[in-house]
Amino acid sequence: MRMRKKKYLDKRLEAVSDILYISDFEDRNFNTAIEKKDYIDLENWFGNDKPIHLEIGCGKGRFACEYAKSHPEINLIAVEKSGNVITVGCEMAKAEGINNLRFIKCGAEYLEKFLKEKSVEKIFLNFSCPFPKSGYATHRLTHPRFLEIYKRLMVEGGEIHQKTDNMHFFEFSLECFSKSGFALKNVSLDLHKSDFEGNIMTEYEAKFSSMGFPIYRLEAYVND
Ligand SMILES: C[S@@+](CC[C@H](N)C(=O)[O-])C[C@H]1O[C@@H](n2cnc3c(N)ncnc32)[C@H](O)[C@@H]1O
Repeated sequence: MRMRKKKYLDKRLEAVSDILYISDFEDRNFNTAIEKKDYIDLENWFGNDKPIHLEIGCGKGRFACEYAKSHPEINLIAVEKSGNVITVGCEMAKAEGINNLRFIKCGAEYLEKFLKEKSVEKIFLNFSCPFPKSGYATHRLTHPRFLEIYKRLMVEGGEIHQKTDNMHFFEFSLECFSKSGFALKNVSLDLHKSDFEGNIMTEYEAKFSSMGFPIYRLEAYVND
């Protein structure tokens, strides 16, 4: 049963392979794997050199598709480590003919293997897994180990936009951004009741806000 499921997923991944990069390297040692660069030729992949925005942990790609459609002036790369969910986003992007959106299937910790330093203008962290147990704090996508990666990937003046429904994760993130030398702006403790315009809902956002939870949002930038 499992094998059949996997075979079916492989077929679906193959069908979207023109817009999906699958990180597939043998080296299971993180340090040596990350050292050996395998940069994606972004100009060739998108067919232009528009600024690159990144969504990390894109899930089924609802935000990525809407954001790319409403921002034709940029190229968006949606990153997700789960093959099952990223496939849904890729299929949606293809069905809608969105030509400024591509996907990378990999863990955020490996991004520097595929993307060059200072190649990204904006990063979106939408409803990242909060990993509530303290032993898993290093897996949170706003942990300093990830913030240092984002700093290297971003151009000067680059920004990270975060949204979450989880107050404890938001508090943790505020501290991490501050410790890692980021400044904050446009912080909201209830996004949907704020005067912020142009919000694009994600799958998790729709679910949690319909349950009455406030949505927390911030924008972070390096303050050198
Ligand atoms: C809670 S879901 C949110 C999905 C979507 N952004 C939304 O708002 O609906 C978080 C997603 O992040 C992905 N994820 C968690 N850790 C990741 C990592 N280190 N690298 C890439 N994706 C990750 C998970 O697989 C999951 O699909």
